[in-house]
Amino acid sequence: MKLLAINGSPRKKMNTGSLLEQIVKGAVSEGAEAELVHLADLTFTGCLSCFRCKDPKGKHYGRCAVKDDLAPVLRKAHKAEALVLGSPFYFSMETAFMRACMERLWFQYYLYTNKKQPLSPAKKATALVYTMNIREEELAAYGKDAVIARSKGLMERFFAPCEVFLCCDTRQVKNYSKYEFDVFDVPGKLKRHEDVFPQELARAFTLGSRLVS
Ligand SMILES: Cc1cc2nc3c(=O)[nH]c(=O)nc-3n(C[C@H](O)[C@H](O)[C@H](O)COP(=O)(O)O)c2cc1C
Repeated sequence: MKLLAINGSPRKKMNTGSLLEQIVKGAVSEGAEAELVHLADLTFTGCLSCFRCKDPKGKHYGRCAVKDDLAPVLRKAHKAEALVLGSPFYFSMETAFMRACMERLWFQYYLYTNKKQPLSPAKKATALVYTMNIREEELAAYGKDAVIARSKGLMERFFAPCEVFLCCDTRQVKNYSKYEFDVFDVPGKLKRHEDVFPQELARAFTLGSRLVS
């Protein structure tokens, strides 16, 4: 059993990266092999629309043909039995790193015909992890619920099923006093980080073990 977790945050050890680390640890605790890839370490592009993945006679049918640092990650994602994509919200979307990865991951399997099923591999357990500044009750007001539903829908179209893990009202920086930050309740955020974030890390560990069980 293999789990692959992909971090779309440019920061490896902050909110998203820490949650993904726990997911990996949870999977390993069940005896699975698990790996965490940080997209920010890689040099890669989004989909180039080269259409080689759509040519039924070509050797890349159903598989992204672009050769860059994301290519081995897409191969690992293809083989993994469990796949987790984690991203902070940036302007109410996944980060550019994660968007580029999602384009390449999904488009290779997508077909412009209803006569065939998508070219994705056998079903795999998946999860989407989102971290964000806003509180959970504000998701709809910022249109984030629609973004989550769209990405979850695409994950389920290609891999099904997909769990969504939300971590809201995050501590964005370690030292708020260095910056101008008056749109948030900073003491409230720091307290939440101390009281609630450890519980979220524990919840992430449980998710990791569940995904490989
Ligand atoms: C460029 C940028 C845009 C952001 N946009 C949003 C946003 O639209 N909504 C939100 O709730 N948080 C937003 N944030 C805050 C991050 O989503 C939040 O702090 C997140 O937990 C950071 O994840 P990380 O600690 O793993 O890097 C933004 C942060 C940055 C740097």
